[in-house]
Amino acid sequence: MARRPALIAPSILACDFARLADETARAKHAGADWLHVDVMDGHFVPNLTIGLPVVECLRSVTTLPLDTHLMISDAERYAERFVAAGSDRISVHVEACPHLHRTLQVIRDAGAKAGVALNPITPALLIESALPYLDHVLVMTVNPGFGGQKFIPSALETVRTIRRWVIQRGLDIDIEVDGGINADTIGAAREAGANVFVAGSAVFGANDVKHAINTLRDRIVHADSEQQECS
Ligand code: DX5
Ligand code: ZN
Repeated sequence: MARRPALIAPSILACDFARLADETARAKHAGADWLHVDVMDGHFVPNLTIGLPVVECLRSVTTLPLDTHLMISDAERYAERFVAAGSDRISVHVEACPHLHRTLQVIRDAGAKAGVALNPITPALLIESALPYLDHVLVMTVNPGFGGQKFIPSALETVRTIRRWVIQRGLDIDIEVDGGINADTIGAAREAGANVFVAGSAVFGANDVKHAINTLRDRIVHADSEQQECS
C-alpha cells in the first residue's frame, strides 16, 4: 500500500510568543503543512500554556490548518469551543477522556477532524475500538508537558501496531508523532509508519526554519527509499 504523504506540523510551543504572527508566517513560508498548537492545563500535564483566545488569534493570522493538541483533563467540556475558535483538527488524550466516543462525536459534529492522543507507554489496545471514529491518532514520543525533551524510541511500537490496524482495515487515518522529532529521529518514526511529524524545537529553534523543515523532509525521503530497497 502506498504511503500517505508526509506532513510537517511545527509546534508553536517552541516559538517566540511575543511574535506569534511573524513566527506563524515564518513556518508557512518555510513550507509547514499544519501548525501544531499545544494546550496544557496544569492538571493533566504539569505545565500551563495557551488557550482559546490564542487559537482565535492564530486563526486570524494564518491559513495553515490548526492542529490543536488538548493536554487537558476536561477535554469534552472544551473541545467544541476549540473548534469554534478555529481549530481544524483536535486531539484529545485517551488517558484524560472517559467518554471518548462522545467527545470524538462532539468534535466531528462541530466540523473538525477528530483524533486521539496516547502517552508513550499507553497500550494501543486502548484506542482500537475507537478507530472507526478517528481521523488521526497522535502517538506521543515524549511524556506530554514540555518541549525539547528526548525522544522515546519504544513509543514507535505503538505506531507500528496502529499502522498495521489501519492498513488491515483500510482506514483513512493519519498517524502523527509528537515529541523529540528532529533530523536524527524522524527517519525511525517514518519507518514505523507515521505520516504527520510534529516538531517544535527542531523547527523554531533553528536559525533557518526553511532549512530545518527541508532537512526533516530529506530524512523522510531517505527512510522511504531505504524501506523500498528492503521490500
Ligand atoms: C509536548 C508537546 C509537543 C512539543 C514538541 O507535550 O505536545 O508538541 O511541543 O516539542 P519538541 O519537538 O521540542 O519535542
Ligand atoms: Zn503536542
